[in-house]
Amino acid sequence: MPEELIPNTNIGVVGHVDHGKTTLVNTLTGVWTDRHSEEMKRGISIRLGYADAVFYRCRKCRGPEGLTTTPVCTRCDSETEPIRAVSFVDAPGHETLMATMLSGSALMDGAMLVISAADRCPQPQTKEHLMALELVGIKKIVIVQNKIDVVSHKEAIRNYEEIKAFVKGTIAENAPIIPVSAQKNINIWALIQALDEVIPEPSRHPEADPVMLIARSFDVNRPGCSWKDVKGGVVGGSLIRGLIEDGAEIEIRPGIQNQVENKTKWEPIITKVTEIHKGQKKVHVATPGGLLAIGTKLDPAITKSDMLAGQVLGHVGKLPPVWEKMWFSVKLMERVVGSNSEVSIEPLKQREPLMLSVGTAVTVGLVSNTRKDAAEVVLKRPVCASIGSPIAISRQVGGRWRLIGMGTLIE
Ligand code: GTP
Repeated sequence: MPEELIPNTNIGVVGHVDHGKTTLVNTLTGVWTDRHSEEMKRGISIRLGYADAVFYRCRKCRGPEGLTTTPVCTRCDSETEPIRAVSFVDAPGHETLMATMLSGSALMDGAMLVISAADRCPQPQTKEHLMALELVGIKKIVIVQNKIDVVSHKEAIRNYEEIKAFVKGTIAENAPIIPVSAQKNINIWALIQALDEVIPEPSRHPEADPVMLIARSFDVNRPGCSWKDVKGGVVGGSLIRGLIEDGAEIEIRPGIQNQVENKTKWEPIITKVTEIHKGQKKVHVATPGGLLAIGTKLDPAITKSDMLAGQVLGHVGKLPPVWEKMWFSVKLMERVVGSNSEVSIEPLKQREPLMLSVGTAVTVGLVSNTRKDAAEVVLKRPVCASIGSPIAISRQVGGRWRLIGMGTLIE
């Protein structure tokens, strides 16, 4: 298969609820990522969605207007040639789902910050998501000014000025702002051009021991299917380094929880790769970047309903350590963003509960020790991570988990 058709970059789609993230992903990829029945009912994204797109260039149209995500040019119906493929990670924008957004941010090489031109800017999660990108260190950002079909030219300019003022002094200060209508397919070529320029394929380390961050896990069998047709559990996510081959023996950590003599023990899962899908194609070797799905020999009961989300997959005996308790450096922000009242952030306190996002894992723990600019937390659910991994720190403020700072795993 041509390399241009295999996704090699993950682009996050973040922003306030209802600003059009899922619609935009649909316009770019043809995939509607809100498929969960609860998501359809409530009209919001709850889980991380993902979908792939190939960027094509029209063989006839000159200039960037000939950029498209369809194999046939949308302007002149001529043939196109593929340039590259990318995966989109669609994060939910509702304030209660910040943990899911944070777990998705671990996979993003760059991001689109979607802002509706029909609302005043900034809305609370526009701020909170930009802050998360800033804390996690995602610098490659394209701002999408969406829904321009429902505002006048004057309103669009005013909204543009608001966006400019909002991003001044932030990581997105120099990010291009592309006006589009995701619903009416307006100016999508300009967005493709900006994404291609701002978010190139990052350098990877295919020779390193593989580390795959699991973002979703599934039981792909239909209810009532015959036992002869039952497929093993499937995990989805992204390889951040190394290669995984079809047929490889793999380990997943922390693994599964067992009760041994009244004590909870986490045991790594060892299994075999039976199938690899990338860019909706079957491949023999998974390479870093882009989202992939790995079929395994696991009992699907272990992988159903995202049960392995947040875990780490690699070769047997070659994964980073599992932490039930960890020390990490702490850098707190001055104020909580994302709610209407922006309270100031106090230092961490002994025994206070925190929500920590490490890779795609989200776990809760109690602060057991503090020292200057560092804290130790005993985790409810252990995490598998290397020393030096970034950690997003959230605290309960007004009954919700709010992002308050960033840390790095020390020991
Ligand atoms: P969450 O994932 O729940 O945070 O929402 P979202 O940001 O993914 O928003 P979604 O794509 O679900 O769109 C919200 C509403 O805005 C839907 O009714 C869309 O049809 C509408 N919408 C999205 N893009 C556009 C656009 O370009 N123009 C107009 N007029 N409506 C749009």
